Amino acid sequence: MRTLKIFLAWLVGGLLLIQLIQIKVPTPPKATPKDEIQAPKEIMGMLKASCYDCHSNHTNWPWYSHIAPISWEVRSHVAEGRAWLNFSIWNQYDEKKKQELYKGIAKSIDWKMPPVDYMWIHKNARLSPKERKAIKDWANSHIKDTNNY
Ligand code: HEC
Repeated sequence: MRTLKIFLAWLVGGLLLIQLIQIKVPTPPKATPKDEIQAPKEIMGMLKASCYDCHSNHTNWPWYSHIAPISWEVRSHVAEGRAWLNFSIWNQYDEKKKQELYKGIAKSIDWKMPPVDYMWIHKNARLSPKERKAIKDWANSHIKDTNNY
């Protein structure tokens, strides 16, 4: 009993202490509605439901995303995700970058994105094979040269 109490006290103390360590997500670049990506309505709906939490300025932060150690994982995902691809500032990218990203989307939508651990919790972010194909076709339709791919 005593050992259990000591163990629990350490556990709670430890969890409280790690709350002091918080990862900062850099403030994303300013964006106007004009900067946002434009896509057919059904594609936009899927991007918003499945990608926007990490790849836009419009991140939904659920309550547990503020609690360490979960917050470390969530925030680093958002920081990294935005750095790679931010749909809110899409029209600030030059054509070369857009091409790279369309290729990246067409490729990563097969299985890599959205990340599996994210989909465990966010059921509405899950995409059917048909939806994945629709996103892939949309991205591919924007790729101009397929040579260097
Ligand atoms: C939980 C956060 C999260 C969600 C949701 C998410 N991504 Fe990502 N994404 C990341 C992170 C982190 C990276 C950078 C590291 C990496 O490649 O794993 C990334 C990288 C990318 C890249 C660039 C890297 C590459 O492999 O070419 C593309 C393109 C991308 N994501 C597309 C998407 C699309 C499309 C969706 C929605 C269908 C999506 N992501 C949903 C976190 C996320």
